[in-house]
Amino acid sequence: MNKISRTKIVDLLQREDFGTQVNVKGWVRTRRGSKQVNFIALNDGSTIHNVQIVVDLGNFDEEMLKDITTGACLSVNGVLTESVGSGQKAEIQAREIEILGTCDNTYPLQKKGHTLEFLREIAHLRPRTNTFGAVFRIRHHMAIAIHTFFHQKGFVYFHTPIITGSDCEGAGQMFQVTTKNLYDLKKDERGSITYDDDFFGKQTSLTVSGQLEGELAATALGAIYTFGPTFRAENSNTPRHLAEFWMIEPEVAFNDITDNMDLAEEFIKYCVQWALDNCADDVQFLNNMFDKELIERLQGVLKEPFVRLSYTEGIRILEEAVAHGHKFGFPVYWGADLASEHERYLVEMHFKRPVILTDYPKEIKAFYMKQNEDGKTVRAMDVLFPKIGEIIGGSEREADYNKLLVRIDEMHIPMKDMWWYLDTRKFGTCPHSGFGLGFERLLLFVTGMANIRDVIPFPRTPHNADF
Ligand code: 4AD
Ligand code: MG
Repeated sequence: MNKISRTKIVDLLQREDFGTQVNVKGWVRTRRGSKQVNFIALNDGSTIHNVQIVVDLGNFDEEMLKDITTGACLSVNGVLTESVGSGQKAEIQAREIEILGTCDNTYPLQKKGHTLEFLREIAHLRPRTNTFGAVFRIRHHMAIAIHTFFHQKGFVYFHTPIITGSDCEGAGQMFQVTTKNLYDLKKDERGSITYDDDFFGKQTSLTVSGQLEGELAATALGAIYTFGPTFRAENSNTPRHLAEFWMIEPEVAFNDITDNMDLAEEFIKYCVQWALDNCADDVQFLNNMFDKELIERLQGVLKEPFVRLSYTEGIRILEEAVAHGHKFGFPVYWGADLASEHERYLVEMHFKRPVILTDYPKEIKAFYMKQNEDGKTVRAMDVLFPKIGEIIGGSEREADYNKLLVRIDEMHIPMKDMWWYLDTRKFGTCPHSGFGLGFERLLLFVTGMANIRDVIPFPRTPHNADF
């Protein structure tokens, strides 16, 4: 076959230099046609769109053509031609076809219209579908948007450890990391497992958050963000929870809770705008396929400022709804942790736009949050989104050494894990704030997908760690 340098389909479909010899490589989506001429829809993952390859059967070997089945991988040399029937500007009149890889007839993606549940069982192949091609291109774009946003604002990308000895959120939902022989565990005289002979000489786990180390960095570099994998061993089989997810955690010295809310709102709007500007074809495809209100919803969050109100006010609104006959699965009272049904009621039914809820009861929030004067609440903020519920959780941090120490004590957090964190409050403490955005929750919102398992390539959930 003649050597012509490859053009990606995304670029090829923009070209108008008809008559030029081109080469494309990709996987066959469909092949149809008559005895004289065949049409192959070829996709190379660079765009949701296929290029149409027109094959004049008289010019090709019949045996070779038999191997051009759905899923086969081809290299095609041909002439770029103006298209009338393909739905694209350009198509290719094939001159030479090389089959790089034939496709076994057990290929599970023969037909269109597989369910998302079925596609989860073949997660190793699902990136080849239109839907997952779109989702994973958008996922890439959101990562670039996030780095661009923070870089332009002068934030330093700071890498926090994945293996840790501390439980930042204090919820005890950690996966342990050990090299100990689980069949032959050494125990002390009280029957407790000893860790002095383990790899790190202490008990360690996968991190639930990079925040504590992020705070160390913010009180040195001023403004930082983390962006990495996060692990939670919570047994929540919901469409919004993963055991392994990615989190973005900015942390900023001298920011108070209002600055923190401003940053969160600007940040998330930037990401949504980026998706509309840079992923238009993929977003449009998902809008048509799964969620006819997707684009409207994306544009909707950009239009108006987010509502900001206190947890106490939020509870009052929810109690009023209950009084008027609205039924929730979980009880509503001051002090209750909000379930996503409550969060979504505030966002979707009451305000009809995103809500930032602040000043939660200290009992339902982590030890590090700044304590309010009232002695009951902390300067927490959760950003609540339509269809999602909580998309961001954050707070102003307790900067006072003694108050923080009391809280650590009250919550029975082992001091041996926290001495280095407390040092920030001893050595030039300062007001500071930060938050965590769940990357996959953002992707749920931007793609309109309904299940978090469908926005990460290889989901990890209870009883599921295949691929
Ligand atoms: O609210 P969370 O637990 O907050 C923290 O971890 C803080 N240390 C963040 C900070 O202030 N730096 O988690 C933050 C976000 C949630 O709002 C949610 O979007 C996401 O992380 N998240 C999850 N996403 C998927 N699966 C899970 N199991 C998640 N748990 C939290
Ligand atoms: Mg939270």
